[in-house]
Amino acid sequence: MVAAAFGVSGLRSPPMIDTAQQGPSDDLFSVFGKTAVVTGGTRGIGHMIAAGLVGAGAEVVVASRKADAVSETVTELSCKGACTGVVADLSSEAGARSLADAVAADHDHVDILVNNAGATWGAPLDEHDSASWNRVLDLNVQGVFHVTKFFLPLLRAVATADEPSRVINIGSIDGIHVPMLETYSYSASKAAVHQLTRHLAKQLAPLITVNAVAPGPFESKMMAATLASFGDQIAASAPLRRIGRPDDMAGVALFLSSRAGSYLTGTIIPVDGGIATVGSA
Ligand SMILES: NC(=O)c1ccc[n+]([C@@H]2O[C@H](COP(=O)([O-])OP(=O)(O)OC[C@H]3O[C@@H](n4cnc5c(N)ncnc54)[C@H](OP(=O)(O)O)[C@@H]3O)[C@@H](O)[C@H]2O)c1
Repeated sequence: MVAAAFGVSGLRSPPMIDTAQQGPSDDLFSVFGKTAVVTGGTRGIGHMIAAGLVGAGAEVVVASRKADAVSETVTELSCKGACTGVVADLSSEAGARSLADAVAADHDHVDILVNNAGATWGAPLDEHDSASWNRVLDLNVQGVFHVTKFFLPLLRAVATADEPSRVINIGSIDGIHVPMLETYSYSASKAAVHQLTRHLAKQLAPLITVNAVAPGPFESKMMAATLASFGDQIAASAPLRRIGRPDDMAGVALFLSSRAGSYLTGTIIPVDGGIATVGSA
């Protein structure tokens, strides 16, 4: 049958199969049975990631400030798999600790922590006061740091050098290139997240990998006004000619969370249709 597939039966021998060289096993991209926490998992990019992980069989805890949003997300995602929620404001150290404590009350370990919750602020340069800087940096930078710090016991609980736990920080292409809008504190915060990712990756190896995803434009509440005004223009100028889809974000999170992504740490992965990496079309 194999020879027939070459179309010249008898002239060529069937390919030898070296079992040691076979392709990837079925579970290479699996997160089945893993425990994941997704901050800001109630909408936008966090919801894309939480839904992707739940759909692939992970048990996911979503966290955000608004109890009704947490409850709606838990109800929605529980139809597809295992999802629970915690209400927490992650812009303070106390809020970060309360999330880790709440998760520890129900789980003896965490395999995947996605630090996604974030905020932005845009205004002319002379209107950027320290209150607006603090609002953005407290959540986007300190939040990522404190949440990771308080989750370390859970992340280390069952991790091994062979199967490390994962921290995935959501940065931004605005931390790589200079953004179109006047979002000084936001772009600075995302560059800080990228460097924090590398620094934590060095400190936490080999039991925990720490990588960042740097999204380009994706539909979300944060991006709604920008995409309403410039969405077509942004899509047309992107080398891949579109904005991001939920599967693009779920896909990279599944890769980084699974055995397939276990040999990456300290990386910043742009998921942006080439906007920051290749430039405008
Ligand atoms: N969308 C994009 O195109 C894009 C591009 C690059 C990077 N990103 C990054 O992706 C992440 C998600 O952005 P998004 O566009 O999906 O934003 P979004 O639609 O505004 O969602 C933000 C999420 O974070 C939660 N959140 C906000 N402040 C919080 C706080 N203090 N404590 C806990 N949770 C909080 C929100 O829920 P509550 O309001 O209930 O707290 C919500 O679930 C951010 O880090 C953002 O910088 C987004």
